[in-house]
Amino acid sequence: MRTTFKFMGLVLMALVTSVAILPIEVTHAASGEEIIKARVTYMEDNVGGQWKVLAAFGKGGTGSLADVEKSAANLAELAKKLPTHFPKDTGRGNFPDKLTRALPAIWTNAAEFQKISQMFATESAKLAALAKAGNKDAVVDIIGNTGSYNRSKLGCGECHEKFRGDQAR
Ligand code: HEC
Repeated sequence: MRTTFKFMGLVLMALVTSVAILPIEVTHAASGEEIIKARVTYMEDNVGGQWKVLAAFGKGGTGSLADVEKSAANLAELAKKLPTHFPKDTGRGNFPDKLTRALPAIWTNAAEFQKISQMFATESAKLAALAKAGNKDAVVDIIGNTGSYNRSKLGCGECHEKFRGDQAR
């Protein structure tokens, strides 16, 4: 009986100690630099990656409408997450121009930024639906045939024109 209690006590002690040690790493909050790096990765790799599939179809007729549908649906999902990549004041003015091209207008003109983000999501979903319906002409009209995302009708250009600054050298 006594040894059992002793053993239970040891187990309990081990539990309490491990619980006390655990939370140390968990409380780490992302720094501004980390937020910006994650944002550029999101734009270049995630959004840009899906765009490449659309651009190839619009410009060279490469791939299928099924490919376009898939990438456009992925873009619509990515678009919903766009605002979460822009926490307040994580742009130029607070961080070096070399690190970020995000302009302060994103936060001083937040309603417009929100509106274009929403348009990006809506137009991407519309593109997916048109591709699914097999409407090739309407699909190419939205994507464009130049390969340039700023000339598409998805909202990339509208947003970049107002809220993305020049590349710093
Ligand atoms: C609602 C606004 C908004 C929309 C919509 C948007 N972007 Fe962006 N994008 C930005 C901002 C702001 C930056 C700059 C981010 C930074 O540097 O911190 C950026 C950066 C980028 C970059 C990084 C490379 C560079 O030189 O800046 C790429 C690539 C990009 N966007 C592609 C796209 C594509 C493709 C679309 C549409 C399919 C799109 N974006 C839609 C706001 C937007």
